[in-house]
Amino acid sequence: MQTRKINEFPENFLWGSSSAAFQIEGAAYEDGKGLSVMDVRKIDPSICDYSVASDHYHRYKEDVALMKECGLKAYRFSIAWTRIFPEGNGPVNQKGVDFYNNLIDELVRNDITPIVTIYHFEYPQGLIDQYGGWLSRRSIDDYVNYAEFLFRTYGDRVKYWLTINEQDHVVHMPFRLGLTDDDRKAKEKLGYLANHNMCVAAAKAIEKCHEIVKDGKIGPATCFEMMYPTTNDPADMLAWMDAMEIRNYYLLDLNCKGEYNGTFKRYLEDRDMFPEIYEGDMECMKKNKPDFLAFNYYYSQSISAFPLDDEHVIGDIEFKLLPSREAGIYQVVKNKNLKATLWGWEIDDTGLQLTCRLLWERYHLPLLITECGFGNKEEWPEEGILEDDNRIDYLSKHMHAVKEAMNLGVEFIGFCTWSFIDLISGHSGFSKRYGFVFVNRDEHDLRDMARRKKKSFYWYQNLISSNGKDI
Ligand code: BG6
Repeated sequence: MQTRKINEFPENFLWGSSSAAFQIEGAAYEDGKGLSVMDVRKIDPSICDYSVASDHYHRYKEDVALMKECGLKAYRFSIAWTRIFPEGNGPVNQKGVDFYNNLIDELVRNDITPIVTIYHFEYPQGLIDQYGGWLSRRSIDDYVNYAEFLFRTYGDRVKYWLTINEQDHVVHMPFRLGLTDDDRKAKEKLGYLANHNMCVAAAKAIEKCHEIVKDGKIGPATCFEMMYPTTNDPADMLAWMDAMEIRNYYLLDLNCKGEYNGTFKRYLEDRDMFPEIYEGDMECMKKNKPDFLAFNYYYSQSISAFPLDDEHVIGDIEFKLLPSREAGIYQVVKNKNLKATLWGWEIDDTGLQLTCRLLWERYHLPLLITECGFGNKEEWPEEGILEDDNRIDYLSKHMHAVKEAMNLGVEFIGFCTWSFIDLISGHSGFSKRYGFVFVNRDEHDLRDMARRKKKSFYWYQNLISSNGKDI
């Protein structure tokens, strides 16, 4: 809606940036860290592994100094579970504990609010070997035990916690569950079993956080994928609504309402994928609600109907990165109104405004944007600095979308860009950069890893100092 007046960002708005341990830290085999599913993952030899990443483990002080110079109010990062518990459970690794104590102290000293993700993709390989990881009920206790340790150790300084990053992606990506990536269709059922265990584990962690961390706030960090019906054909509208329920709302309904929504329940039952529910599971989820909703946003998707026919029967599913079409429900198609990044992610700031408004209407919880950013191939020029205007354009439009949603009454905690310094992409190595700060390495040549400020660094610095007035 066009309005005469638009409200400014509140004074306490958290302007921040995000990272994940395996994508930024490096030191993958140092100081007693155990292996995670990301370390043992078979990687395409044309892209780098996670062993060195951006070497943040050794350079965190320099990186925090840059955050301070930029004016960041918050830094969201994840703790590598296997730095704390190398096997996922059992003995604690003191050097890992010390690293995060030092990082948190450094942030607090520099007036940067730490926002901690408890688990961001790097599940301990030890737990996969011991009992199959998230597929076993035992995983719930080990996650809760790990989370409780973090609350007791860091909860005096960390007040914002995120339970699980993008559980809605983990469910569909077998390698993140410690499985092989073949026959993904057959593994969907296991994904939903893992999903249930993660929901129970997250609810129990919320309970512990509220017990242990004074003034602590905790919530999930999902990847809500905004969708549009492709046309006004009622069949597309139906496909859109079904896709929104089974691909987006299902998880937040579990996290925030303690419910399997009707559409999702029927979808799972119809495919013999409904997980076993133990006594007390749903009560535990209902009782332990998050304090806020965090979500990652990069693109939107256009949805068309995908009717059954002789070739396509119920249960047929196809994947790109995530499920891309399911017979009798929906298919993702190209949106002709939007431009896309080099990786085909359709750029859509309006989709962010809509996401915020939909989430607020359905859950009425304050929102924290935990990731939003523009991935690009970049090289440092021979002269001058890297002028990443396309990133500035992307972010300023997306921040404006948040302002528009706020203007219509949606409550926010903050906005964390992905990322602050360049780091390893989830799927595309070091060739897909997101940072305000260039890290001087490429896919396999580590060069000197020097940090260099891109044009967007100064843009964000200016934006934060004006509290978003200069978007
Ligand atoms: C999110 C993840 O899916 O998107 C991050 O939480 C990831 O870990 C980010 O890096 C961007 O995805 P990609 O594949 O471009 O790195």
